[in-house]
Amino acid sequence: MRRIFTLIFVLFCGAATAQKFNDLALTPPMGWNSWNKFACDGISEKAIRDVADAMVTSGMKDAGYQYIVIDDCWQVGRDSIGNIIADEKKFPSGIKALADYIHSKGLKFGIYSCAGKLTCAGRPGSRGYEFQDARTYAKWGVDYLKLDWCNSDGQTTKEAYTLMRDALYKAGRPIVFSICEWGNSKPWYWAQDVGHLWRTTGDIENQWGKVKAVEGKVWGGSVVAILDMQAGLDKFAGPGHWNDPDMLEVGNGGLTVEEERAHFSLWCMIAAPLIAGNDLSKMSKQSAAVLTNKDVIAIDQDKLGKQGYKILDGFDFEIYMKPLAGGDTAICLFNRTEKPLKVNVDWAKYKIGNDFKITDLWAHKSAGSTAANFKATIARHDVKMLRLSKK
Ligand code: GLA
Repeated sequence: MRRIFTLIFVLFCGAATAQKFNDLALTPPMGWNSWNKFACDGISEKAIRDVADAMVTSGMKDAGYQYIVIDDCWQVGRDSIGNIIADEKKFPSGIKALADYIHSKGLKFGIYSCAGKLTCAGRPGSRGYEFQDARTYAKWGVDYLKLDWCNSDGQTTKEAYTLMRDALYKAGRPIVFSICEWGNSKPWYWAQDVGHLWRTTGDIENQWGKVKAVEGKVWGGSVVAILDMQAGLDKFAGPGHWNDPDMLEVGNGGLTVEEERAHFSLWCMIAAPLIAGNDLSKMSKQSAAVLTNKDVIAIDQDKLGKQGYKILDGFDFEIYMKPLAGGDTAICLFNRTEKPLKVNVDWAKYKIGNDFKITDLWAHKSAGSTAANFKATIARHDVKMLRLSKK
């Protein structure tokens, strides 16, 4: 009898813990991560504090961005009882003080580790220390953990990430869990109950159009290469579990303003986590305007939690559609060519009714209705981002 009570108790508490974690990412997480801009050498307490300050003053916080995540290279070793040690030169006040500072700004704090013995930059990983590290993160006030997959020989993804998930549950602090095994084992099939988001590809690069080949295999690459690799994954995303096409390159100087707009719009169409990767403390007005367009962000953050998909596939011109809560629909018309493109969209061809009002989400103005064809000229590598609504 006692055993039955114990079992019921464990099941009940387990369910309660899972529930605490389940509600953390009902819409795709929004924040900032140090890797794309600062990589290994550029991070420091000062750099991260400056970004946290800028998150507030630039309007990013107001637009919905919450998490400030330190990526690789904050860690240097372990003490005699195995506790992870942060780099004292770069973080003289320690990680807890930095977390407290970030929290004092009304933001949330995230950190990086690796499921393998060493991180991708060769720092100590969490293998064998999962429960100890999870306790440390909880003590520091971590709200988000990105767990990488370098030096993970002999491990299987599902088991390794489930182990860390259980360690986070046990530590008890609600922490968003970001799985980063680059789509190697198709995490969209197994990760829904393990993490809140999972990377679908290798790393994004700060450029528009090339695919990166690693040892003959296509891995990460440019904005367009990563986008194309998302086809077919929409059915696996939903509230609490998102495909992650990697962090944003908006503001990092490799894209034109049209390309920044297209990158951001398309990431919103596919319900991507919106993790900025630029130096927010030195952001141009143009990039800030892209990252803080609330109408476009509302498409990403829509409560229905549907990932958008292509309704017109093509080498030159593509149309993405994303169903929204309350019967609205987002449409993104994407010119992939090297020249301005004249488009003439007949809504009926895509089974879109003739009773929607159209709002152009970058021009911030009404653009007629679906009773007529939509005609426009779209600049090279640019988009028209539209909200179709019945009201
Ligand atoms: C991997 C990840 C990146 C970044 C680096 C850090 O490449 O995919 O996002 O975290 O490691 O070393």
